[in-house]
Amino acid sequence: MTRGIGKIAFGGIVAFIGLYFVTALAWTWYSSEKRPDPDKPGQRIAEGPVPAPPHPVVIRQPDGKVMVDSGRRDARGEPVMVACATCHDTRPPEPSLHSSSELDEFHQGLTYAHGELSCLSCHNANDYDTLKLANGQAVDFSASMSLCAQCHGPQFRDYRNGSHGGMQGHWDLTRGGRTRNTCIDCHDPHHPAFPQVMPVFPPMPERGETLPHAHHE
Ligand code: HEC
Ligand code: HEC
Ligand code: HEC
Ligand code: HEC
Repeated sequence: MTRGIGKIAFGGIVAFIGLYFVTALAWTWYSSEKRPDPDKPGQRIAEGPVPAPPHPVVIRQPDGKVMVDSGRRDARGEPVMVACATCHDTRPPEPSLHSSSELDEFHQGLTYAHGELSCLSCHNANDYDTLKLANGQAVDFSASMSLCAQCHGPQFRDYRNGSHGGMQGHWDLTRGGRTRNTCIDCHDPHHPAFPQVMPVFPPMPERGETLPHAHHE
């Protein structure tokens, strides 16, 4: 009698444990279907707090108003600035010009050292108030970076990655904006070599300090 009850009780416990595991497994499966796993790629996950809108990265732009001093002065004594086309519309272009020493009629102050490029590699012979790309397309003076980029791909790539050209402002764009230089902020298009940094004297010793090579009595 007691053995019969014991058997039933034992069977009940086994059945209960079995049921428990089956339910637990089913629940795990069911809830994993419902609840997305945040570590699984391609899943939509619940949105956390909405991040602040990032501040902009602004590339400084040359003003694009490129003119030359005509050498004359107006009534107030200010130099009269003229647009490039004023003279060049009536002058035949000189495609072979590629050094400042060849400038004997005008633009004598211009220092030029940029590889073997002729002036008209960059300036537009059809419209001197613009620049031109290698494919002949005219670009505004304010967009000179696109001109530099087509011949200096590696530096432009580094620039876009942030390792060339410097920046000011915030690294974390949720805290504030960032300003980037344009190529001609640092490189003169006519003599682009970055000026060499002057070597300076080593630091002076602090009062009471001795230089490493000084004699000790
Ligand atoms: C006052 C007239 C005058 C103005 C304004 C002028 N130029 Fe010139 N430019 C000349 C003359 C003259 C030459 C030829 C220089 C020489 O051979 O000594 C020249 C030569 C050049 C050349 C060399 C290629 C070629 O076709 O001769 C370029 C490039 C050029 N100028 C660009 C410009 C740009 C850009 C501007 C405006 C920012 C400008 N010039 C404004 C008179 C002018
Ligand atoms: C690598 C491209 C490039 C070449 C090559 C080049 N220029 Fe320029 N030039 C420019 C750009 C870019 C500007 C505008 C600079 C700015 O926005 O301040 C400019 C501006 C000028 C100006 C007006 C401003 C100034 O600096 O006086 C003159 C004049 C000029 N160029 C003449 C020439 C002449 C002459 C030659 C050949 C001896 C020449 N350029 C070769 C890119 C070039
Ligand atoms: C048509 C092609 C062309 C364009 C456009 C051009 N460059 Fe160059 N650049 C050259 C060549 C070629 C050299 C010379 C490479 C050499 O001598 O090893 C050079 C050299 C340089 C150098 C190295 C100078 C040195 O002596 O160390 C710098 C910096 C430079 N360019 C910047 C610029 C900038 C900024 C612009 C845009 C205003 C520009 N380049 C536009 C072709 C170009
Ligand atoms: C913040 C200033 C700055 C800006 C902006 C800048 N550069 Fe430079 N660039 C430098 C310095 C510094 C060097 C290294 C000069 C050296 O080593 O003597 C350099 C070197 C170069 C060289 C010569 C590379 C070599 O190995 O000799 C080229 C070409 C060049 N830059 C192109 C560009 C172009 C194109 C842009 C715009 C996309 C640009 N730079 C923007 C500062 C700048």
